Amino acid sequence: MQSVAQKVEHQLTDKGYVPVYTTRVIEQPWDSYTAEDHRTWATLFQRQRELLVGRAAQEFLDNQQRFGMSADAIPKFQDLNHVLRAATGWELIGVEGLLPELTFFEHLAARRFPVTWWIRKPGQLDYLSEPDLFHDLFGHVPLLLNPVFADYMQAYGAGGVKAAAIGPEALVNLTRLYWYTVEFGLINTDQGLRIYGAGIVSSKGESIYSLESAAPNRIGFDLERVMCTRYRIDTYQKTYFVIDSYEQLMEATRPDFTPLYARLAQLPSQAAGDVLASDRVFQRGSGEGWLNDGDV
Ligand code: PHE
Ligand code: FE
Repeated sequence: MQSVAQKVEHQLTDKGYVPVYTTRVIEQPWDSYTAEDHRTWATLFQRQRELLVGRAAQEFLDNQQRFGMSADAIPKFQDLNHVLRAATGWELIGVEGLLPELTFFEHLAARRFPVTWWIRKPGQLDYLSEPDLFHDLFGHVPLLLNPVFADYMQAYGAGGVKAAAIGPEALVNLTRLYWYTVEFGLINTDQGLRIYGAGIVSSKGESIYSLESAAPNRIGFDLERVMCTRYRIDTYQKTYFVIDSYEQLMEATRPDFTPLYARLAQLPSQAAGDVLASDRVFQRGSGEGWLNDGDV
């Protein structure tokens, strides 16, 4: 029998309820993928590979090739793991979807990256409100071959376990950091701004919008600034934060966040589209097309 993803609870977000799945680790049921599933992978893979040349960080594209990812078939986690373990000691594990926060942090802290085993339906090529195999594999996995980024992800997991013990406000601050880096980060290179965030590279529309639209702000990464900035999950971002290097990210996040959480608790949060006097502005967004009904 084909496995069916099991939802256990729902998480309230600013776009409504998003399902949370069981904590179970499952073997990728590769034989259960249908011809349609493989075609969905192929369509998305080809489309994004073409679009991302000159838009995604070159290393991101190169790493997909190091993994041997191709349009031919949905990759096997086992094959990817051979490459990944040898390179950075990370390992992919199969899951049914979004995990409870603490479970997710614990996996990252142990250098295990949870990958949703199922892929979206053909009617969902452009948008899905929860992560699927395409987002997780195509978007997140390539940079796990980068030693510095790999360490950052592990440190984030350990930081998450710690923040969970401190309280919900600390978790909100920490989650913003993940959102604006791992999911929606841009990186400044000699060739210009490039995408490294998984949420962007797995979206056709946002791959173009994040770099080329006049609407959003593009602002230099600053740890505290990011951690006090709200966001919404159901529209393109109003602000993208730009790092200079993965080393910068690692160095900025190395200190113990405990005093930082205490300080941030005293400060107001910033709206997703705000530009502050202290910002290093790459582009001030025109704000065209922004919704103003809830960047929470
Ligand atoms: N240094 C952070 C802490 O003490 C942990 C962390 C590292 C968080 C990297 C995010 C990214 O909590
Ligand atoms: Fe993601």
